[in-house]
Amino acid sequence: MIEAELEWTSKLEVQNIVDIGVWQGGSVALLDSVFRPKKLLAIEYSTRELPHLDAYVEEQSRQENVRVYKGVNQADLSRFTELLDFEFGNEKIDLAIDDASHHYLETLLSFNLVFPRMSEGGVFVIEDWQWSTMEEYYESDYFKDKEGLANLVLQCVIACACRPDVVREVIVKNHSVLVVRGEAELERGTFDITDIARNKGENVPLVL
Ligand SMILES: C[S@@+](CC[C@H](N)C(=O)[O-])C[C@H]1O[C@@H](n2cnc3c(N)ncnc32)[C@H](O)[C@@H]1O
Repeated sequence: MIEAELEWTSKLEVQNIVDIGVWQGGSVALLDSVFRPKKLLAIEYSTRELPHLDAYVEEQSRQENVRVYKGVNQADLSRFTELLDFEFGNEKIDLAIDDASHHYLETLLSFNLVFPRMSEGGVFVIEDWQWSTMEEYYESDYFKDKEGLANLVLQCVIACACRPDVVREVIVKNHSVLVVRGEAELERGTFDITDIARNKGENVPLVL
């Protein structure tokens, strides 16, 4: 998965990154090592201690660049907006990786919030989008009765057909989907990919 994502994203000029879902900090350290971004904002719902990540940030003297906020739900739009405004202001985000809840609604909310703030050609990565195709996941307590995250992938694909100026390209890999930002100016706060993705004049129903 890492190789598939880096194959594509390593071509980008990346200054600002958003990492959603930190776990033990592996992706934060990886993204920081690969891109050496000006700013990497990471959010995580859990408030557990992350001594290895803290040690990495300190050893590398990256306190100003790597900003980790715990106790933040990706669906908490007011807190997430506050952090995006505080860390990036009006600067564009070049790469966002969502590896947090993998639930459709939460991921949709984060996508709608972050995507308008991205640079043209920037990439929003949705990880582990395929869980609803795999019995060990769709039968699990965590995902049972949840809408498939694959619905969001379908909406992004249809949005690419309707509005390539918004979604320039969608690159589908087995464990991750890369949604490439087009050149359109998008209004922050009101953007909704489900409004843009229309099939036969209607919103795309949640079918997965
Ligand atoms: C798969 S792990 C992330 C792994 C990490 N990106 C990496 O590659 O090293 C998912 C993380 O997302 C967090 N998470 C789950 N639901 C979340 C939510 N609604 N908001 C923010 N974080 C969430 C979990 O606590 C967990 O630490």
